[in-house]
Amino acid sequence: MDIVLGASGHVGGTVARRLLEQGRPVTVVLHRPEQDSEWSARGASVAVLDVHDTAALTAAFCKARRAFLLNPPASPTLDVDHEERRTVHSIIEAVRGASLEKIVVQSTYGAQDNPHCGDLGSLYTFEQGARETGVPLCVVRAAYFMSNWYGALSTARQSGVFPSLLPKDFKAPMVAPQDVGELAARLLVAPVEETGTYSIEGPETYTPEDVATALGAVLERDVTVDEIPRSQWLKFYRSHGFCPEAAQSYATMTGIFVDGLYDRPRTPLRGATDLQTCLRDQASISSR
Ligand SMILES: NC(=O)c1ccc[n+]([C@@H]2O[C@H](COP(=O)([O-])OP(=O)(O)OC[C@H]3O[C@@H](n4cnc5c(N)ncnc54)[C@H](OP(=O)(O)O)[C@@H]3O)[C@@H](O)[C@H]2O)c1
Repeated sequence: MDIVLGASGHVGGTVARRLLEQGRPVTVVLHRPEQDSEWSARGASVAVLDVHDTAALTAAFCKARRAFLLNPPASPTLDVDHEERRTVHSIIEAVRGASLEKIVVQSTYGAQDNPHCGDLGSLYTFEQGARETGVPLCVVRAAYFMSNWYGALSTARQSGVFPSLLPKDFKAPMVAPQDVGELAARLLVAPVEETGTYSIEGPETYTPEDVATALGAVLERDVTVDEIPRSQWLKFYRSHGFCPEAAQSYATMTGIFVDGLYDRPRTPLRGATDLQTCLRDQASISSR
């Protein structure tokens, strides 16, 4: 039995669907019971639980052999650094309480030992904790998700403008979350001996100007970027509902990304999905 965290999300959803397509027995972890029937209809077993509930998670892991581990993004209304480490610790404790033969951990480009830099820090803690369990481990370090622009689809549809904290001409490695999920599913079913860290980005790098072009093509209208200067990042996050700690942490993370203060992989794996395809697919899902 494989078990998949975050199955109702972008990456975990792809992981679970690919495993089911291969005829493998799969348990999906959901925390909203109303999603149960959709996954049961696909042939999955369902465990409805909150990852904060270590006992329930341990019990679910005890019925599985292999696990895809995704730390849910914390609400930015809370201190994300604290909250995301709480869930990391719960997931790692649950792995320790079970006898899994292999785990695949969802991580990020730029994961680093820093207590206040958004998921770059919490996912570093996740990687380290997973390594210390001694369970054979694959880490998937993914570039900036193209899904970070899904919100821009509706903003740009209405106004023709979307905000970007990344400078307009900043070339960023980005990846479609479904390509990340494909990789994670492949690693989960691969032999136990196949372990290590795998970095993945998309077929090419993109600037926010490229995002505007892709949105324009998908929405069939002119779209422009509203570049938020660094001096306004904190204010921007605060105005979008972030608490002061989360705003500071995300601003630090954004700075690390823009300033390139991390080891960029030289020979990453490359997902096939380009930005325009990713945004088009999302636009068609949202219009259903
Ligand atoms: N954004 C980026 O650029 C980027 C880059 C690299 C890595 N990452 C990492 O990738 C992961 C996010 O992946 P994603 O985009 O696929 O996530 P997502 O679409 O936001 O999905 C999150 C999943 O976690 C579930 N979840 C939320 N809170 C939960 C809880 N308390 N207990 C159990 N399940 C819970 C959600 O369920 P509901 O649908 O019911 O809420 C959903 O299935 C994070 O670890 C993030 O740090 C992000």
